[in-house]
Amino acid sequence: MTKKIGAGRRVLVTGGAGFLGSHLCEALLDDGCDVLCADNFYTGRKENIVRLFADPHFELLRHDVTFPLYVEVDEIYNLACPAAPTHYQYDPVQTTKTSVHGAINMLGLAKRCRAKILQASTSEVYGDPTVHPQREDYWGNVNPIGVRSCYDEGKRCAETLFFDYHRQHRLRIKVARIFNTYGPRMQENDGRVVSNFIVQCLRNEPVTVFGRGQQTRSFCYVSDIVHGLMKLMASDDTITGPVNLGNPGEVTIAELARMIVELTGSESPLEYRALPRDDPGRRKPDIGLAQAQLGWWPTVDLTAGLRDTIAYFRNSLDLTAVRTRAR
Ligand SMILES: NC(=O)c1ccc[n+]([C@@H]2O[C@H](COP(=O)([O-])OP(=O)(O)OC[C@H]3O[C@@H](n4cnc5c(N)ncnc54)[C@H](O)[C@@H]3O)[C@@H](O)[C@H]2O)c1
Repeated sequence: MTKKIGAGRRVLVTGGAGFLGSHLCEALLDDGCDVLCADNFYTGRKENIVRLFADPHFELLRHDVTFPLYVEVDEIYNLACPAAPTHYQYDPVQTTKTSVHGAINMLGLAKRCRAKILQASTSEVYGDPTVHPQREDYWGNVNPIGVRSCYDEGKRCAETLFFDYHRQHRLRIKVARIFNTYGPRMQENDGRVVSNFIVQCLRNEPVTVFGRGQQTRSFCYVSDIVHGLMKLMASDDTITGPVNLGNPGEVTIAELARMIVELTGSESPLEYRALPRDDPGRRKPDIGLAQAQLGWWPTVDLTAGLRDTIAYFRNSLDLTAVRTRAR
C-alpha cells in the first residue's frame, strides 16, 4: 500500500476555492487529511469545490486572510491571492494587502498552533530575469513601481516575512516558487495565456498574441504542482525553500498558440498585439533543487495537459451558453 503523505492531519488551505487551491483540497482529502478551506471568493468559485461539500472531512469557511483567523490546524497552505494579472491589477492595494497582511495573519496562526506553513510564492519574484533559467539563488529583477508590482512585491515581502518568522520564531516554513500553471478550473476571462488561447480557439475568434510571440514561457500541469506542494510540505523540517516548482519545458507564445489551434481543430487566425508593460521576455525554472531535495519533477507533458484543459473548457463553455440561453 502506498504511504499517505498527510493522513490524519488537520490542514488549512487559504484560497482553497481557487484554481490551484481546489485541486489541492481534493488531493489532501484523497490523502486522508481533514481539510479546512478558507476563501473570500474574490476569484474563487463554489463550483470548484462543490463536489467536496458532501465529504465530512471537508469544511468551507468564508474568510478574508487580511483579517486574523483563529482555528486549530497542523499545516497551512497559504494560497490566498489573485494570481492572474487582470484579477490582481483590478484592486492592486487589496492585492498587496492580501499577500502581506495575509502572510502576517497566517504566520501568526502557525506560530500559535505550532503548525507547519507553506507559502505559494511565484516565479514573478524573479521579475524580468537577467539570468536564464532561473535558480532559487537569483534575487530577481523586479520593477517596484509598475502595474505588476502589487503582486510581485507583495509576494516578495511575504517571502521575507516567512524567513523572518523562521529565524525569529523558529517556525517551520516552506516556500514554493510556482511557475505558470494550467489545467481545468482556470477561469475563461482571467487573461492568462493558456485559457485565453483555448477560449478564443473554441469560439473561432482570432488568437491574440502579444509582441511577435517570441517571448517564452514554461507551463506546468496543475496535478504536477499539487504533488510538488504536498511533497514540499512533507519534506524534512530543514527544507524551507524557496524551491522552484514548474515545468522546465520552454515554448514560445507563438508555438503555444499554434499548438492550441491544432488541438482544438480551430480556424482561428493569430493576431499580433502590442506587448503589455513589464511583460517578462523569458521565464523558465531550474528545478534541480526540487529534484534533489524533494525527488519531484513534472510528469504531464504539454500536449496531454492541454487536451485535458481543452476538454474542460469545451464543457464549461457549453454550460455557460446553456445558462445564458436559459435566462
Ligand atoms: N496559477 C499559477 O500559474 C500560479 C503561479 C504562481 C503562483 N501561484 C500562486 O498560487 C496561488 C493560487 O493561485 P491560483 O492560480 O489558484 O489563483 P486563483 O485566483 O484561482 O485562486 C486564488 C484564491 O484566493 C482567494 N483569495 C484572494 N484573496 C483572498 C483573501 N484576501 N482572503 C481569502 N481568500 C482570498 C480567491 O478567492 C481564490 O479562491 C496564489 O497565491 C498564486 O499567487 C499561481
